[in-house]
Amino acid sequence: MRLGKLLLSAALAASCSLAFAADPVAQRQDIFKDYKKTFGPMGEMVKGNTPYNQAEFAKLAAHLEEISKQPWQHFTPGTDKGKTGAKPEIWSKPAEWKKQIAGHQAATAELAKIAASGDLAAIKPAFGKVGQSCKSCHDSFRKAD
Ligand code: HEC
Repeated sequence: MRLGKLLLSAALAASCSLAFAADPVAQRQDIFKDYKKTFGPMGEMVKGNTPYNQAEFAKLAAHLEEISKQPWQHFTPGTDKGKTGAKPEIWSKPAEWKKQIAGHQAATAELAKIAASGDLAAIKPAFGKVGQSCKSCHDSFRKAD
């Protein structure tokens, strides 16, 4: 009986995660939530609201560089409908979209490099550039809430 329940819940969990993995909108939104969780605490340190911790900041910056490679593959054709903040321009202006991604990835790579050095005076402008790359893309390609 207990084993039966266990197997049933395992089967349910497996089918749920499969259904979830098949939804590209949820997948990319999930990655952007991770963006927020990573970028937010970095911003607090840069602003001096929380104490700057070199190792912690560098870890977050490395993670940000890593996830800056991930959301874009989930912007598959036809996924501009429904509960998404993605504008149709993502698909109608692919060159501009790619340019935004490239600029953003260059900025996160640069920040990760500088963050490893621990030089807060250099980190601040590099962090600002990443923030601008988020905003620049959102301004063109993300619907206002
Ligand atoms: C190249 C374009 C681009 C860049 C760069 C970008 N975003 Fe986004 N972001 C989007 C788009 C498009 C969406 C809407 C996705 C959807 O709803 O399908 C989005 C959605 C989000 C969301 C909402 C996720 C949710 O819960 O629905 C957050 C938070 C977010 N971005 C944070 C960031 C942060 C922080 C950065 C920079 C560190 C960043 N983004 C950089 C395009 C971008």
